[in-house]
Amino acid sequence: MANKILSAVIIGLDAELVEIEATLGGGDFGQISIVGLPDTAVSEAKERVRSAILNSGWEFPKRKITVNLAPADLKKSGPIYDLPITVSILTLKYKFNFDFSKCLIAGELSLSGEVRKIKGALLMAIKARAQGLEAIFLPHENIAEASLVKGLKIFPVIDLNQLIKHFSGQKITEVIIRQSPEIKNENLVNLSDIKGQEKAKRALEIAVAGGHNILLSGPPGSGKTMLAKAAASILPPLNDHEKLEISRIYSASANILGRQTTCSLPITQRPFRAPHHSASASALIGGGSKCRPGEISLAHLGVLFMDEFPEFSRYALESLRQPLEEGKIIISRAQGNLDLPARFMLIAAMNPCPCGFLGLKEKDCACSLEKIKKYRQKISGPILDRIDLYVEVTSLSPMELENNSSTDNLAITKKRINRARERQLARLADFSPPLNAVIPSEQIKNLCQCAGSALELLKIAAKNLNFSNRAYFKILKIARTIADLDNSELVEECHLAEALQYRTQL
Ligand SMILES: Nc1ncnc2c1ncn2[C@@H]1O[C@H](COP(=O)(O)OP(=O)(O)OP(=O)(O)O)[C@@H](O)[C@H]1O
Ligand SMILES: [Mg+2]
Repeated sequence: MANKILSAVIIGLDAELVEIEATLGGGDFGQISIVGLPDTAVSEAKERVRSAILNSGWEFPKRKITVNLAPADLKKSGPIYDLPITVSILTLKYKFNFDFSKCLIAGELSLSGEVRKIKGALLMAIKARAQGLEAIFLPHENIAEASLVKGLKIFPVIDLNQLIKHFSGQKITEVIIRQSPEIKNENLVNLSDIKGQEKAKRALEIAVAGGHNILLSGPPGSGKTMLAKAAASILPPLNDHEKLEISRIYSASANILGRQTTCSLPITQRPFRAPHHSASASALIGGGSKCRPGEISLAHLGVLFMDEFPEFSRYALESLRQPLEEGKIIISRAQGNLDLPARFMLIAAMNPCPCGFLGLKEKDCACSLEKIKKYRQKISGPILDRIDLYVEVTSLSPMELENNSSTDNLAITKKRINRARERQLARLADFSPPLNAVIPSEQIKNLCQCAGSALELLKIAAKNLNFSNRAYFKILKIARTIADLDNSELVEECHLAEALQYRTQL
């Protein structure tokens, strides 16, 4: 009787255990039949398994073999079961003094027995630890991502022979590196490389510090895209918990991101996603038959940059309403609802009109009123209401560009942001993430305490500028972030006055 070998199936951002069991049938056919809802890739494992066993110098049982993947009602897909199926078949022929019930095995096999990279290795490692298993055997190329999980022995497998020898007593060295080196992005635009634009840079600093959404509007070539990209240079570093949370999403998305991306797991830097405006609503929010995470989930705990904002389809833009409010997206599937995290900071950029020159003294706008109205209507009121800071970016004159050297010191800006984030963590430890942007309105009074004069100012502004309820609370939250950057306990009048500057809708 064969041993039961444990492996896993990926469902959304989680993994479920799969038990693999092989038995010998009558006759001497040497055939393999796989049952338990396998897809084509799993069914084709038969050929890879047989060839890998023979080419690695092991004997193949000369009877009919039935392999069962339990639970039978969960669809199994992909080549990840090659390795556990092989081990299960070999236990029919060979005796191993090894306890298979305490480990999880996954990996694709080549015909010669080499083990290839798989998708979802991190999710499997998380599941293995949660189930109290002791070890996981994974393709060596997946080890970096799995090593984010602590409290689990992780064994890198290079080929079938090495794994079988391990079960026979010749140990594979366990991986003890728990942290991969930080990857430096050479192509990063630094905020300090941008000349002038002090107001826009300050607004980006506030947005990054408190996780607020920001819209940059201005004529062509004024530097909106450059400013948005430079936000990546001031994003605070990730802690271990955040690295795991983000890497989980990328591990589950390996199939849509291509094999290359799996190499760079775990994720060690905050995501900065910039989907093109032709992206469909489903590419943006996720879903599809495989319940893949969309751009908003890939930007979780980082930035979603939507350049040429009005050029996105209206449907795609409207689909952002729920995630922008709740920090997650709920995707309905036949088997039930799936929650995907999507707590991102939105940076949107747009021109003020189709030709881009509306409001400029130097250049005439060529758009009719009707055209401008149609262009702006592409972004609905509810979406605009979800933006926290509005910034008008103006072009610098050649003289200004020549003479204006940036006064900003990137290190000082980063230090201010990191300190503001620490202050938020101390105050908002129960929130995930602990950022001013996520404070619910019912707790704003407690968590954004204002000096008396600041409250007076807010009341006057709200009355004169006709704010929505959401806008009222947003201003308080932005003012709280400005106070945090200023290292101040209370929201003072000056913090609120600065916050109000960024609420003048364009
Ligand atoms: N303040 C600045 N400092 C340094 N370079 C700048 C500045 N503003 C613009 N540039 C230069 O101008 C180029 C164009 O800027 P960018 O692409 O960001 O403009 P844009 O506002 O996004 O234009 P569009 O509306 O056409 O998309 C940048 O690549 C950059 O080299
Ligand atoms: Mg641009």
